[in-house]
Amino acid sequence: MSTDEASSSPQLLPVCAFDLVVFGAAGDLALRKLVPSLFHRWRDGQILAQSKIIGVSRTAMDDAKYRSLALESFNKFHPGETIDDKEWRSFSEQLFYVELDALDENAPWQTLIEKLGEPVGKQRIFYLALPPSLYGDVCRNIAAAGINTDGARIVLEKPIGHDLESARAINDAVGAVFEEESIFRIDHYLGKETVQNLIVLRFMNSLFEPVWNANAIDHVEITVAESIGSGTRASYYDTAGALRDMVQNHLLQLLCLVAMEPPLDLEADTVRDEKIKVLRALRPIKETSVRETTVRGQYGGGASNGEAVPGYADELGKTSATETFVALKAHIDNWRWKGAPFYLRTGKRMQSRRSEIIIQFKDVAHALVSMRADELKPARLVIRLQPDEGVRLLLVTKEPGPGGMRLRYVPLNLSYADAFSARYPDAYERLLMAVVRSDLALFMRRDEVEAAWRWVEGILAAWRMDATPVHAYVAGADGPVQAAMLLDRDGREWFDGATY
Ligand code: BG6
Repeated sequence: MSTDEASSSPQLLPVCAFDLVVFGAAGDLALRKLVPSLFHRWRDGQILAQSKIIGVSRTAMDDAKYRSLALESFNKFHPGETIDDKEWRSFSEQLFYVELDALDENAPWQTLIEKLGEPVGKQRIFYLALPPSLYGDVCRNIAAAGINTDGARIVLEKPIGHDLESARAINDAVGAVFEEESIFRIDHYLGKETVQNLIVLRFMNSLFEPVWNANAIDHVEITVAESIGSGTRASYYDTAGALRDMVQNHLLQLLCLVAMEPPLDLEADTVRDEKIKVLRALRPIKETSVRETTVRGQYGGGASNGEAVPGYADELGKTSATETFVALKAHIDNWRWKGAPFYLRTGKRMQSRRSEIIIQFKDVAHALVSMRADELKPARLVIRLQPDEGVRLLLVTKEPGPGGMRLRYVPLNLSYADAFSARYPDAYERLLMAVVRSDLALFMRRDEVEAAWRWVEGILAAWRMDATPVHAYVAGADGPVQAAMLLDRDGREWFDGATY
């Protein structure tokens, strides 16, 4: 995996010249994430002057209008950052716009063909910032226009489908035009700084590997909590729900990185081969076990960041059985993890935005000092992915002073903000540069996506057969009370960040 763009060294290497065509250029992803990310990489000198970024969408606009739209959006989403006019003008000379209905084979593709010109000495990349149901048709039209020149790459946003069958259909349709080595399936969590650090933390510190298994670890928790609601994406979200939107991809990718065997190297397929073994070892959740191992929830009205907020159904404008929260207990049936469950939970409108992985170590074999169960657990490793990125090893420690042994957690604390002064790039910055460099390790392979769907589809089917209820929770709370009961039944509790 490349780390150079994140290094503390100010010397960043430009990536080779490229033409990047973004389909869906007037949409939220392109304007909020992609163009700002490209601007940051340009500002750091990584984008050569002959590279072009070409936005494509059906909206009638010219280059000038698109450039001002992009700047407006940058300012809106990066309020703390100032760009001087000269700088933006210079960057935007590499930013173009083509009005085109990419779903229409007979539309005038000629303008795009001319804008691209000959691919001499340049990478050619197509980015589909579009709904996945359109991927197949757009790829076919790219081929029909003859612009998928040798070595051209395609970047696909998640979700790849809404179940295994639709994922396969998309993969087939894209695969009919592009080779697997040219397909970059984004899971933006893989581009996050702290997620990349998981591999380094586990495999470059010899103290962890001997205890990284069910002999020493009691259980693992993965929490991805969001304080935002479904917002403007409610109509998409209602067809997906938390299991499809977050667990199938981001949470399972995190689970894989925590659970996988040490890869031989960091080549894309070596890492991906290890991850897929984990996905295949996930014990299926069936109708008979779905109630005790999963919890579904949906937020009602409440408060978020001190302000009253509506419930999900009110945002949507109708009642819905879609889950905005899911918690589940996963078993990985292999030697390393036998007996140590992974508890996953994610939801919208939770108390605060917080993503973390907790490695809870087991009780000591023979406690010399009593640790009241309600007070203190044995050592735990807290890997905070966002915000306040960092790693904390919470150790049981004697509180200094007379009066006997009083124990409490004291963290060995690595805070990114304290340890590193360099700005580190947003996930999309890293991922876009990784596409240019052809670093597939940060992207999902076809079989990974499909294995993840296979497991998730089992849960969806079990929910249907069991008619598993969707419990209400108040916006601003950490999910429904049933999520706490999921762990309580096992004599455990979620780590809530305030337990030390
Ligand atoms: C996306 C989901 O993949 O990830 C969104 O579709 C979610 O629903 C987002 O809000 C969370 O990403 P991050 O980087 O803000 O944790």
